[in-house]
Amino acid sequence: MWHLGGMTSETVFTYGAPQLKFGSGAADEIGFDLAQFGARRVLVVTDAGIAATGGPRRIADAMKAYGIEAAVFDGVRVEPTDASMREAAGHARETGPYDAYVAVGGGSSIDTAKAVNLLTTNEGDLAEYLNPPVGAGRAPERPLLPLVAVPTTTGTGAESTTVCVLDVLDLRVKTGISHPRLRPELAVVDPDLTMSQPPGVTASAGMDILCHALESYTARPYDRYERKRPEERVPYCGANPVSDMWAEKSLSLLSRSFRRAVADGEDREARTDMALAATFAGLGFGNAGVHIPHANAYPIAGQVRDFRPDGYPDGEAMVPHGMSVSLTAPEAFRFTFEARPERHVRAAELLDPRMERPDDPAEHLPLAVLRLMRDIGIPDGISGVGYGEGDVPALVEGAMKQQRLLATSPRPVDEEAVAGIFSRSLRLW
Ligand SMILES: [Fe+2]
Repeated sequence: MWHLGGMTSETVFTYGAPQLKFGSGAADEIGFDLAQFGARRVLVVTDAGIAATGGPRRIADAMKAYGIEAAVFDGVRVEPTDASMREAAGHARETGPYDAYVAVGGGSSIDTAKAVNLLTTNEGDLAEYLNPPVGAGRAPERPLLPLVAVPTTTGTGAESTTVCVLDVLDLRVKTGISHPRLRPELAVVDPDLTMSQPPGVTASAGMDILCHALESYTARPYDRYERKRPEERVPYCGANPVSDMWAEKSLSLLSRSFRRAVADGEDREARTDMALAATFAGLGFGNAGVHIPHANAYPIAGQVRDFRPDGYPDGEAMVPHGMSVSLTAPEAFRFTFEARPERHVRAAELLDPRMERPDDPAEHLPLAVLRLMRDIGIPDGISGVGYGEGDVPALVEGAMKQQRLLATSPRPVDEEAVAGIFSRSLRLW
């Protein structure tokens, strides 16, 4: 439990969200929506893999009917870096000016578009805007342009959030920029765009959705923080009644459709449920925040040696974001249980209503998550993606840099606790 001591506890929570357009065919209407923002020249930001599907070009061409001229930039790097984001911003500066941006793709494209938007509307270098302690956490002084986010993988929630995540190459660290102005103006979620996701991608991206829902639901509650002044308020304010509602709904949808969407990608109903679950979880965690599993995911993805997952482009070693988040989640929820037992039990009930319950209520949620991971083919722990006991200290060091996330844990978490979670996550079953 948190002891607030003499400090005055918070009494206020906030909720922010983009406008939302959801459903089959929604992506065909983006030209109309951009015209409402008064846009005439637009840059569509995407990666080469998504561009090869023809989707971004189709979306750009459909805008012509509304008098909008659209160029496509397909140079987004999957798992963007500070260099790739600066390059994308450079491209936008050279070919612009634009009066709106459209991001089509996974979290990498949406996050890159956020950075491009920031860097083409505000002075200063990317590094100044990075979250402390890596950067100076500078706030953009000027408003950004309208950004329309069109997710093609159902997971990241990047369309709803105020953050963009990137690797800083020199420092070998994954970090981010977080500011309310980064939040897209409009999220266009069209489940038709997700139909071509291979099973491995659906599994990893779905674990990201699940962890967004579970971490925001079990997050340190907003009234367990010190009272802030209005100008000190942050987008992630801790679990609150509004974010709880989205998280619970998301868990029910995942319970119904996650296994089905992995087993049969053509199952339109399951795909639609997954797209809704991702959106709901995004609307929740985009305000409450996430904690230990996401903090641990940074070094798990960032220090990868030679793991190459199924369903992702060949070549580069990587641990997909959702997979890296899920690998320490069962142990993290075992650790956080005592801070908010009733929530952990309730989350397990929503996720796996038919599961046989162990006697110890602390085991319900870890077991529900493990059963799911096993069924959809997620590796059986961090050893499954190439880490051994000797890697734990470096992983801990990487996770401890994510203080913004760790502060959202419902139970105070120190180096020793994180080390224990990593060690016990080497082999999960
Ligand atoms: Fe995530």
